[in-house]
Amino acid sequence: MRRMVLLACLLPLAACAGRQSPLAPAALQAEWLHWLLMLMFWVCGIVYALVIALLGASIWRGRHRLAAKPEIEPDDRRLSRGLGVWAGMIVVGLTVLILGSFVVERQLADMRAHEALVVRVTGQQWWWRVQYRDPAGGGWIETANELHLPAGRTARIELGSVDVIHSFWVPNVAGKMDVIPGRANAIDVTPHRLGWFRGQCAEFCGAQHAHMAFDVKVDTPAEFTRWLAAQARPAAPPTGAALVVANGACASCHTLRGTAARGRAGPDLTHVGGRRSVAAGTLPMSRGALQGWIAQPQALKPGTLMPAVALSGAQADAVAAYLESLK
Ligand code: CUA
Repeated sequence: MRRMVLLACLLPLAACAGRQSPLAPAALQAEWLHWLLMLMFWVCGIVYALVIALLGASIWRGRHRLAAKPEIEPDDRRLSRGLGVWAGMIVVGLTVLILGSFVVERQLADMRAHEALVVRVTGQQWWWRVQYRDPAGGGWIETANELHLPAGRTARIELGSVDVIHSFWVPNVAGKMDVIPGRANAIDVTPHRLGWFRGQCAEFCGAQHAHMAFDVKVDTPAEFTRWLAAQARPAAPPTGAALVVANGACASCHTLRGTAARGRAGPDLTHVGGRRSVAAGTLPMSRGALQGWIAQPQALKPGTLMPAVALSGAQADAVAAYLESLK
């Protein structure tokens, strides 16, 4: 039984590392926040342990003395010395915490590089529009629910919302930043550890708040350049039964660069098949997931603005195969 309890206590530690955890930092900003978190943990932990120990000791001593001399009066000098120790602990603890958070705040503020890579991220119910500057010059290129960042370079993520308040949070990379309609917020991130991480909207924003996730990939600079160049290319044009994507209902809400589809209400689908998830982290990307999402979006994510699209069996197969092929 004792062993079972011990094991159960250790179980929550399994969540400490991983791709959505502030305890496994992958960027300079997250390193500093992790340092502050550890400082708070140790200061509060030590104070807690001291309080319990002193309290236990004084209860134990008091009982023994009371047993020996029941008529004893409390000693005023001892009492005021005890109060002095408490007050000292509080002042020292709070001073360390205040200095710690001041240092971290300064560090985060000083990381704003002048020549940062700018990424625009716009929250809306319930997905993320992601825009990068076209490396060939000119306008912005767009993707959704997936952010690629080059390691070793500071990216400024400019945040906006078109509807309600959301919050941008990738715990491995940086702290939270609210995404507020009508207000330009930004957060700087300087990732240094390669890999996939998970971001999540951290402000309740409606029925599908939980399904407003996104993937973050930290690439080597060369990988990032390749990825961005690939994103800038137009989509391969649809053929046969898949033509309905560019000419039918999809085109009024979605853009497929290089085709007639230029809708702006929903995510850009130009390279949708290369993304990791369907519907902002609702389903892992696959042909079946795409087909299910097109046929039954309200069953998978009730309240989403994506309407069910009536397609014939052959069309549905062709559309899902075409979208999956858009890497
Ligand atoms: Cu967007 Cu919660």
